[in-house]
Amino acid sequence: MKKIAFATCNDAPAHAADDHLLSKYLQKEGFEVEYAVWNNAAIVWEAFDLVLIRSTWDYPQQMEAWQKWLQLLEEKRVNVWNPVETIRWNMHKAYLEELKKKGVPIVPTVFVEKGSGANLKDILEEQEWWKAVVKPCVSLGAFHTWQTDMATVEQQQVAFEALVAERDVMIQLFMPEIQTVGEWSLMFFGGEFSHAVLKSNPTGDFRIQEHHGGLNHVMQVPNSFVSQASDILQAVDLPHHYARIDVLERAGKLFLMELELIEPSLFFGLAEEGVKRFGEGIKLYFSTM
Ligand SMILES: Nc1ncnc2c1ncn2[C@@H]1O[C@H](COP(=O)(O)OP(=O)(O)O)[C@@H](O)[C@H]1O
Ligand SMILES: [Mg+2]
Repeated sequence: MKKIAFATCNDAPAHAADDHLLSKYLQKEGFEVEYAVWNNAAIVWEAFDLVLIRSTWDYPQQMEAWQKWLQLLEEKRVNVWNPVETIRWNMHKAYLEELKKKGVPIVPTVFVEKGSGANLKDILEEQEWWKAVVKPCVSLGAFHTWQTDMATVEQQQVAFEALVAERDVMIQLFMPEIQTVGEWSLMFFGGEFSHAVLKSNPTGDFRIQEHHGGLNHVMQVPNSFVSQASDILQAVDLPHHYARIDVLERAGKLFLMELELIEPSLFFGLAEEGVKRFGEGIKLYFSTM
């Protein structure tokens, strides 16, 4: 019997991200499934036929341990979904810049390197942005993410400097569509579109994550969304089995905010057909090995 590990973290319950629906499906299809905390040193990763990176949501706070774990998986030649090389590429949002060079429309972004003496007000002035979002380049779940604008930016310089002292940081044009419509997530499995979710926050917070009061709705999306998201994915050179494309729409055009190839929630609870699509990919993988 093939053994599959769902890599999770200490803080995430075993059923995080509706993954129990996927594990149940895989068990029904004859796989053995185990939830395993990524930084639990007792786990023998090479004992698994496949490791699915799922709810490993605490890695931005412990990058050194995370990098070591990825290295260990590589050294032990563990089969990892998505592959380790893809995960490394996708960890730092500098990938947005790379995709932009290939013609992908991204939310306008300025990158600031860790330790540089950048001034936040100067950046806003240079870009002619009234309002912007500050966030770390390695992040998830709106970690250290805040809004700024020309009226308040000077008071935020100290906090900005503290963040830049610790991490690479990005400043993005604030996209008001986040509060009027929401953020779209389009799920692709094996390169094929599966389902789409609209995430918005009725509390008015610009962060649409559930832990900030956000809600998720499964939605029918126009074909043009699927084809634009598919074009975005085509621009990615690294191998992937699953992808979540997070975008904001303006006048019919999608702007990439984040491409998730590591540990995205895949909203299986809202679109159970997605479970089968994801699971079929795993069955196919083992049948061709
Ligand atoms: N440029 C932006 N305009 C409007 N809202 C934003 C912007 N950037 C981030 N946000 C809000 O902050 C959240 C977290 O940012 P995101 O880029 O998705 O990083 P992560 O999910 O990796 O923490 C988004 O889901 C969105 O609600
Ligand atoms: Mg996000």
